[in-house]
Amino acid sequence: MNDDDRRFSEGTYKIIGRPLDRVDGRLKVTGTARYAAEFSVPHLCHAVMVQSTVSSGRIASIDVGEAERSPGVLLVLTHQNAPQLPQKGRAAVNPPAGRVMSLLQDDVVNYNGQPIAVVVADTFERATAAAARVRVSYTPQPGALDFAAAKSNPHPPASKGPTPHEASWGDFAAGLSAAEVRIDAVYTTPMEHHNPMEPHATIASWDGDQLLLYDATQYVSGVRATVAKTLGIPHEKVRVVDPFVGGGFGCKGSTWSHVLLAAMASRKIERPVKLVLARPQMFGPVGGRPQTEQHIVLGAKRDGTLTAVRHDVISHTSTLEDFTEPSSAPTRMMYACANGTTSHRLASLNVGVPTFQRAPGLATGTFALEVAMDELAYALSLDPLELRLRNYAMNEPHSGKPFSSNYLRECYRDAAERFGWARRNPAPRSMQNGRYLVGWGLATATYPAHAQPAAAMATLLPDGSAIVQSGTQDLGTGTYTTMTQIAAETLGVPVEKVRFELGDTSLPPAPVSGGSMTSASVGPAVLSACDMLREKVIELVVRDEKSPLHGSTPAQVAVENGVIVSTIEPQRREELSAFLSRRGTTPLVSSAEAMPGPEMERYAAHSYGAVFAEVLVDPDLGIIRVPRIVATYDVGRRLNAKTAMSQLRGGIVWGVSLALLEHSILDQRNGRIVNSNLAEYHVPVNADIGELDVAFIDQPDNRFTALGARGIGEIGITGVAGALCNAVYHATGKRIRDLPITLDTLI
Ligand code: MOS
Repeated sequence: MNDDDRRFSEGTYKIIGRPLDRVDGRLKVTGTARYAAEFSVPHLCHAVMVQSTVSSGRIASIDVGEAERSPGVLLVLTHQNAPQLPQKGRAAVNPPAGRVMSLLQDDVVNYNGQPIAVVVADTFERATAAAARVRVSYTPQPGALDFAAAKSNPHPPASKGPTPHEASWGDFAAGLSAAEVRIDAVYTTPMEHHNPMEPHATIASWDGDQLLLYDATQYVSGVRATVAKTLGIPHEKVRVVDPFVGGGFGCKGSTWSHVLLAAMASRKIERPVKLVLARPQMFGPVGGRPQTEQHIVLGAKRDGTLTAVRHDVISHTSTLEDFTEPSSAPTRMMYACANGTTSHRLASLNVGVPTFQRAPGLATGTFALEVAMDELAYALSLDPLELRLRNYAMNEPHSGKPFSSNYLRECYRDAAERFGWARRNPAPRSMQNGRYLVGWGLATATYPAHAQPAAAMATLLPDGSAIVQSGTQDLGTGTYTTMTQIAAETLGVPVEKVRFELGDTSLPPAPVSGGSMTSASVGPAVLSACDMLREKVIELVVRDEKSPLHGSTPAQVAVENGVIVSTIEPQRREELSAFLSRRGTTPLVSSAEAMPGPEMERYAAHSYGAVFAEVLVDPDLGIIRVPRIVATYDVGRRLNAKTAMSQLRGGIVWGVSLALLEHSILDQRNGRIVNSNLAEYHVPVNADIGELDVAFIDQPDNRFTALGARGIGEIGITGVAGALCNAVYHATGKRIRDLPITLDTLI
């Protein structure tokens, strides 16, 4: 155990974990935080994307004359005049990160809403007006739009190596025949779209052969790599900048067509081009959560012991590319069961390519598995919490690996007590509040812990302030704040003296801000760079004859709150700034790279939670209200108690949304999303959300990272739909297996 591990496990951190207000909060509430579309660039012009209006076929003719003659128009880019890209624009395709884009390389239409032209004008309004004047005729073909038809001819996901979705352990058939009670049911979740508040937006600006992109993204390095490869130019020629992101949730994890189209248009007219997607354009060309159909079979003994578990998933993908929503993931790691099998098949539709959407697989998969477990509990007349405890996994069931850390049992106990679960009458329709039916349900939440290599650089300036940098992103999750805390703690300087910089490919590289991995990837890099820098200060100060610390042993010198101090003779001390300014104007710099250690291969690392939900159902109208949700999470160490709470609350809100509201409706005639706007694509408003009572176990996972943090961005959405669905059953006696649960399904 090194010093850092010890300090963490002893809980002696002073700044990490504190509920520090967001360091970028003031910038955001005063409107001075600058998002991708808000950078001012001289001679900027404005692009508007024209989209196909059929779901499949070819462009028979495209008449751009009227558009080109419209006032202010500088360019109408179509497949007829677009620059030919290497490999027809597919040079960067490398699933799952490098997506198949629509870059005007041919006349083929794969989905309704596919970009087929870009109109650039001197103002946004003129570009919009001209875009409406592009006349297109098609040779349409019948598109595949019916999931029910497409799933009758499914295919396994394209994959270079063994896919984790196909897994078997023990002997499922034998386990099922040994079962005394069986559940066999199909659960479905709909097509959804992310809809972060900030739409996708790109400003592309060429200076000779150098491309600068301001882009709304979760992954500046990924955009750089994808754009460089697709255009066939060296990586160094592309810089991507994005200091603030107005929500990502997965759709900004990949580089989509509009980014390249902006760069192509800008190069052609030799002026900077801004392309901002309109809200309806967020439904198709930039991903979404695929529709799933999940078949679950559970077998158990009378005492509740699981003997067999099966989870077969079919999800939709696009005819353009395979994307897999890994919904069977929780079944491989959640409950102790000796015999299991999971599989995945894809059904291709003529729609935009689906993608990662908050807790991909786990959001949808915990719904199906946790409702199936509730059904099993009722079939056994066993309390659903007791059923879960009887099948509590001590090792990861599928792999047999030990967990790096697992406090799920404590989550169940804590949340059940705060919720008052013991007072529940298990019989459906047995609890009432006035004229409303009351339902109480529970489910387990989970999300895997991920980490990838990341780099960081720390600089101490002569005034004692620090600049710490990493090319990561802050999606609104709090990266600026948590990394500032790690840096301040490690350097021994006050939080106000640290400036953390991110969102720029000119900074040390960091992974995608996805997979809930930023804390566990960038955190260790920041920690390490700052650790080395503090050591450097100490080594120099003990050799500095002008310092009161001269001659001290480095191990007996600390930096605390901006003061260098001897730990054995505390009167020997000096301000960090006094020492640094004596050195002149040269800053002190350290860089570090961190990567997950090989020892992690020995462990299965996941976060957990227990979610208890109450619903009130109007017996006549079927209206469902959610007065309270009580949940307790084991997410390892929290880096900031306040931003952690916000992440979990926000995730739960989205879980309510998944359970009761969201649904992208695909028009079966033409492949359009019918409700492609925020009036008809329903997400919760404040009045839809009751009390959210969230607690944490706060046990650091020091096997996963020295920081003990596992990442918390996605777990909040998981489990919620299962808990609500189970609560609706308890209230009404109606088992709904299809999301969203809308009032019409209850009357
Ligand atoms: Mo998240 S869906 O991995 O951005």
